[in-house]
Amino acid sequence: MKYSAVSPKITAMLHGADYNPDQWLDYPGILDEDIRLMKLANCNVMALGMFSWSMLEPQEGKYNFDWLDTVMERLAASNIHVILSTPSGAKPAWLSRQYPEVRMTNEKRQHTLHGGRHNHCSSSRVYREKTQQINRLLAERYGNHPSLIMWHISNEYGNNKHGGECHCETCQQGFRNWLMNKYNNDLSELNRAWWTSFWSHRYSSWEEVESPSSIGERSVHCQNLDWRRFVTWLNRDFFRNEILPIRELSPEIPITTNFMGTFYELDYFKFAEDVDVVSWDSYPEWHTDQDSLQVAVSTAFAHDLNRSLKGGRPFMLMESTPSNTNWQPVPKLKRPGMHLLSSLQAVAHGSDTVQYFQWRKSRGSYEKFHGAVVDHCGHEHTRVFQDVSETGRALQQLQDVVGSTVDAKVAVIFDWENRWAFDDAKGLHNLEKQYLETVVHHYRAFWEQSVPVDVIDMDCDLSGYQLIVAPVLYMVKPGFAEKIEGFVEAGGCFVTTYCSGLVDEHDLCFLGGFPGPLRKLLGIWVEETDSLTSDDYNSVRFLDVGTDQKSSYTVKDICDLLHCETATPLAVYEHDFYAGHPALTCNSFGSGQAYYIAFRNNEHFEKTFYSDLLNKLRLSSGLNTEIPENVHVQQRENDENRFWFIMNFGAETVEMELPGMSGAYDVMNECQVYDKIGIAPCSLKVIKTAL
Ligand code: GLA
Ligand code: ZN
Repeated sequence: MKYSAVSPKITAMLHGADYNPDQWLDYPGILDEDIRLMKLANCNVMALGMFSWSMLEPQEGKYNFDWLDTVMERLAASNIHVILSTPSGAKPAWLSRQYPEVRMTNEKRQHTLHGGRHNHCSSSRVYREKTQQINRLLAERYGNHPSLIMWHISNEYGNNKHGGECHCETCQQGFRNWLMNKYNNDLSELNRAWWTSFWSHRYSSWEEVESPSSIGERSVHCQNLDWRRFVTWLNRDFFRNEILPIRELSPEIPITTNFMGTFYELDYFKFAEDVDVVSWDSYPEWHTDQDSLQVAVSTAFAHDLNRSLKGGRPFMLMESTPSNTNWQPVPKLKRPGMHLLSSLQAVAHGSDTVQYFQWRKSRGSYEKFHGAVVDHCGHEHTRVFQDVSETGRALQQLQDVVGSTVDAKVAVIFDWENRWAFDDAKGLHNLEKQYLETVVHHYRAFWEQSVPVDVIDMDCDLSGYQLIVAPVLYMVKPGFAEKIEGFVEAGGCFVTTYCSGLVDEHDLCFLGGFPGPLRKLLGIWVEETDSLTSDDYNSVRFLDVGTDQKSSYTVKDICDLLHCETATPLAVYEHDFYAGHPALTCNSFGSGQAYYIAFRNNEHFEKTFYSDLLNKLRLSSGLNTEIPENVHVQQRENDENRFWFIMNFGAETVEMELPGMSGAYDVMNECQVYDKIGIAPCSLKVIKTAL
């Protein structure tokens, strides 16, 4: 094992679901039936209590833990572990009524009504006290309970469709305090960093500073950016307040909170510092995209991101649907095979759990048609139940995978602050910013070649990598240029693209020539950036066409016009007044190379470019074989073994040669592998080899 299991109390792969017995207290016998079904579904964990506040504290200070005591005991007696949630994700009506300040104020400064969830004020003193109080009682009562293996703090921080952030006067003052601390109590420092002399936006007192609003200030970009940073900080601060009694009373039990993949509003690289284990909720829209691989790729990207948030430590798939959702525009069912494939895709990329929302389908209210392990029919004779129980069986076979990790030599940079700043920029093609899409587009080139990738941000450690890819590195944070120069100088390879090196951490443009602090490393000066309409046509041509390269690639949206200083041009534009100008450059720097891709492309330029690069760097899937289209191979390894997850996302059966793998073990079919394997559509095999 490279890492310990997600909780010291277990060694198995976890399989289970969000369980809401508090919705079924009036239905005698249902707990017995649920436990019977949990066993049949090969489940060994349930996540309880995420929305139980009004059932635990029906009136202020009047508690009812009896039902939870019973459920905890019954689960313990059946060897089913519990992940217990704190209930702050949704507040009881009495709390909203008695303490109106706990209700969120939206960005238009409207004080919202009670209802929904994730709509509290995170600065509210009362809300923080009440949360700590109920958490303390939970920790006192269950902190040493035999079935408890983990704390699940709140639920999906920030998940409110109206924006999970409060703009009340307390939050405004919190923002000002945070700014005073950041800018050393010096308002002129803030005014300089925010470039407020523009449009006469200079502040003469801290009291004038407010959070961004659609009916107020939004044109000061660093103000917007600092607000986003503050919101991440405030959520973390609330979290740290929530966990105080829990850490005090049950220090051995690890803590997590369920993240939401690439969720826009919170910088998870920062938030991850506060949790012991990363967990996240994954809801891919399988079978809806014309390009079915794109869903597989973006889901893989999010899994890799979550594994990378804690430097490669296995994460938890805290939620996924056993069937469809109720909220996607077209809630399609998973086609046969997809449930196992989708669940084990998470494991392939580093999850040590497969968990669902939800165990039993609610009878009423908003989520009554959301997929669940147990449907309204109430029995196990359903397709979904069988799929779930098959997945549970597979996880038992994959026991040895627990604690293993992915050894990636390639890292793709996905940075939240860069994303917020780039999206906010006016100019540089206002209709097609597409930061996340662009990062995933570059990531896809590696996914298609089954080369393992970490997804990191600018602050992460770069050691151990051979190649760093940073699409649209619009902002360059302090210290990053020096770090990446050191990386390349020592033999590393760096790739970045158009719209990089434009602003610093205050969203202030670098003066003296773009790409600012990356100019020396890249050996170029970017003089101008052109935006293309969808009717414009341009293309780029490689100067020295290799065997796998097409002669010309169509470009779209954005083209940088640049001069080579010390770099060598590898491709040039073919049309318009910048025909013949460099479009792809390479600069040798120390023992390494730094590449600049000056355009966004309409075709699979990256595929060709990165295959060449991977060949040069001698990076591959490690399988020594041609990987068929639609197949992705992901590896996890511990000190003794490597596990090859060979996943077929296509609609055809594929055959693969596995040279040198004769005698390896097919884990789920419990047999040896001979040189060739076949993989049915929408399915996978897991092959174990010795290291
Ligand atoms: C989120 C929440 C769950 C549930 C699911 C439905 O992930 O955390 O409580 O609402 O969505 O997909
Ligand atoms: Zn507030």
